[in-house]
Amino acid sequence: MTTADTSLAPRIALVGATGAVGGTLLDILEDHGSPYRALHLIASVRSAGREIRAGGLDRPVRDLAGFDFRRADVAFFFAGAEVSRRWAPLAAAAGTLVVDGSSAFRLTEDVPLVVPGINGALLDRRPAVGLVALPGAGATALARVLAPIVRRWTVRKVVVSTYQPASEAGHAGVEELQEGTRIRLQDPEAPLPAEVFSPPLAFDVQSGTWAGAEPGRAAGGTWAGPPEDGFTEQERGLLEETRRVLGLPGLDLTATCVRVPVAHGQCAAVWVDCALAVDRGALIAALRSAPGVTVHDGAGHATLTPAMPTPATLDDPDRVHVSRIRLSPAGPNGPTGFWLWLVADNLRSGAALGAFQVLGELAARGTL
Ligand SMILES: NC(=O)c1ccc[n+]([C@@H]2O[C@H](COP(=O)([O-])OP(=O)(O)OC[C@H]3O[C@@H](n4cnc5c(N)ncnc54)[C@H](OP(=O)(O)O)[C@@H]3O)[C@@H](O)[C@H]2O)c1
Repeated sequence: MTTADTSLAPRIALVGATGAVGGTLLDILEDHGSPYRALHLIASVRSAGREIRAGGLDRPVRDLAGFDFRRADVAFFFAGAEVSRRWAPLAAAAGTLVVDGSSAFRLTEDVPLVVPGINGALLDRRPAVGLVALPGAGATALARVLAPIVRRWTVRKVVVSTYQPASEAGHAGVEELQEGTRIRLQDPEAPLPAEVFSPPLAFDVQSGTWAGAEPGRAAGGTWAGPPEDGFTEQERGLLEETRRVLGLPGLDLTATCVRVPVAHGQCAAVWVDCALAVDRGALIAALRSAPGVTVHDGAGHATLTPAMPTPATLDDPDRVHVSRIRLSPAGPNGPTGFWLWLVADNLRSGAALGAFQVLGELAARGTL
């Protein structure tokens, strides 16, 4: 139960309450019994008047354009970069602390980019601009896994290949994948819907920017690299956001992002090369001690067993799951490079949980 009458509990506004991440954040607030004095559910005019059950009440969804942010202490924005660019500064100017899940401010200098458990200390003071940004789901998972490694073994290079689900494009992405899959199974020649993913994603694997992508949706901010270097906005975002969260702007990191026909759950194959020799036991211990990371390394860890997480079998969606830790053959001073495989819930540990944890950090520090 959630509506506590303590005067210290915050008044919350959730922009994007009808969306994939917004709905997940409502689940998390419910799961944790988080107290709030008010909960305002906000979306576009398309959803205004709908009701969503939250905290034991059927609550109306309000149109963003008509909402007075002076009624909220904190506002979560999960409604796309364009909405955040336009409305988040207005909410902040009204005195509301904005926690923005879009790509709009992830690389903005005076907006802290926070993953609680790694750099939550950035919230020791209320940000002057009234905005806190959250990284994308890929950078959140990667930063969680690299944080216990980068300084201890002096990382020289990280190479990442991601396998990303349709739900990173929200409800519409999942619906289009399901519809395309259904149509293709019935008729191999029938045209498939391609409004979100173009070409269609059903039964396919795609690397590169798909034509249907919402501008500014995949990642944003300022990319330090050349404009025509062939990296997608998503790949650029993954690299720059991970460096920023780790506080290592010079980290040699490169990535290929791939969209796969999976509804929920992101995966990544990560190659890490270090300056110092890596001991496998010490590496596993370091990863196990990292907040939000679970290591799967039982007997026969090269074999996929029902106990090993996949997007379809992920049983703890609040953690980043690491498996398949493989050290490369030893050099003269011992092995310095290793592979690992990570699986994480993009909606929960990759987005909504971070927002919830930021709220907890702010409350604990009295900086809300
Ligand atoms: N999906 C992920 O894995 C993920 C991970 C990390 C971050 N994010 C970020 O989270 C945000 C939301 O993603 P999502 O996957 O939840 O998308 P979604 O399922 O498409 O939901 C979008 C939400 O934004 C609202 N919205 C759209 N246009 C609006 C407008 N003009 N004014 C007010 N509300 C508007 C929608 O309301 P209506 O129902 O009224 O259209 C809906 O509630 C994006 O910025 C995304 O980059 C997503």
